[in-house]
Amino acid sequence: MIKNYRTAIVTGASHGIGPFIVRALAKEGMNLVLAARSEDELEQVATAADIRATGVHVLTVPTDVTERDALSALVSAAERTFGSVDVLVNNAGGDPQREFHNYTADDVEALIRLNLTAPIELTRLLLPGMLQRKQGHIVNISSMGGSVSFPYTEVYSAAKDGLIAFTRVLRADYRQAGVSSSALILGPIGGAGLGERTMQELNLPMSAMGKASMSPPEAVAQAVLKSIRRDKAEIVVMPGPGRLMRALMTLFPGMGPAMNQMTGSTSVMKQVADFRERQREQLNASSFQAEAKS
Ligand SMILES: NC(=O)c1ccc[n+]([C@@H]2O[C@H](COP(=O)([O-])OP(=O)(O)OC[C@H]3O[C@@H](n4cnc5c(N)ncnc54)[C@H](OP(=O)(O)O)[C@@H]3O)[C@@H](O)[C@H]2O)c1
Repeated sequence: MIKNYRTAIVTGASHGIGPFIVRALAKEGMNLVLAARSEDELEQVATAADIRATGVHVLTVPTDVTERDALSALVSAAERTFGSVDVLVNNAGGDPQREFHNYTADDVEALIRLNLTAPIELTRLLLPGMLQRKQGHIVNISSMGGSVSFPYTEVYSAAKDGLIAFTRVLRADYRQAGVSSSALILGPIGGAGLGERTMQELNLPMSAMGKASMSPPEAVAQAVLKSIRRDKAEIVVMPGPGRLMRALMTLFPGMGPAMNQMTGSTSVMKQVADFRERQREQLNASSFQAEAKS
């Protein structure tokens, strides 16, 4: 067990990196509340043999984190079942991988709700209970996207950098009262998650440099444990001196785009964005046809 934390909520627990975080927390003996939209996938994670072997209790709560009422329902279900929540891992998130000039205002709002508003709102709901018990830890999963000017992530990166700022101030304000916070700043993750799925879906080759910059999802799970156990403000999950690289990118903002060119990310992301646009056009065309028929 980490400290004497007994229960954790993990959002985005249905697929991608989330299940790795779930497994790591289960091995620490923490009871778990798993949230995401896909009910079946959540059940599969909850009933997997390695999770059951840990003997922890797992509650699944199908939740769309972009809906405010669903977040209150998630917290109520967790508190009803386990009494209190000690750890919140805000992992649910994502990016449509499209060029910004094609977004609608609704697209922008939905993306901010998923990547920024939902983690803030869940924290707001859980914080009073944590303060009352003088213990708790919030772990927010962010991204290097903003620091390295990763192509076509304007809104996503704005939300993820906002999440880092939120975590810093939250940590400063409440740590003395026993409730701490950490931001995990992820570089590209290979082996699971959105980046990996996209590369497979489009059958895109990965440059040697691109491969070398990837971390496995297990590294994220270990960073979650480390951030709580050692009470870290920020952990950069990236091979090599990720923290130094992030600092350099902030000092020299021109380095990010140059690096994206060198690693091939710029051209790969252009192919991804074009593919997403074609997908969207097909979707719009088929829903138009369906409407016309009815
Ligand atoms: N993969 C990477 O290379 C990478 C790099 C930097 C940062 N990150 C961050 O790491 C986190 C996990 O990413 P990932 O790569 O594992 O992505 P992923 O494979 O797409 O998984 C995203 C998770 O979030 C959940 N989710 C998405 N929209 C949701 C909604 N509206 N309500 C509730 N749950 C929702 C998904 O479940 P449902 O679809 O079932 O709802 C899923 O469990 C994200 O915050 C992402 O921004 C990832």
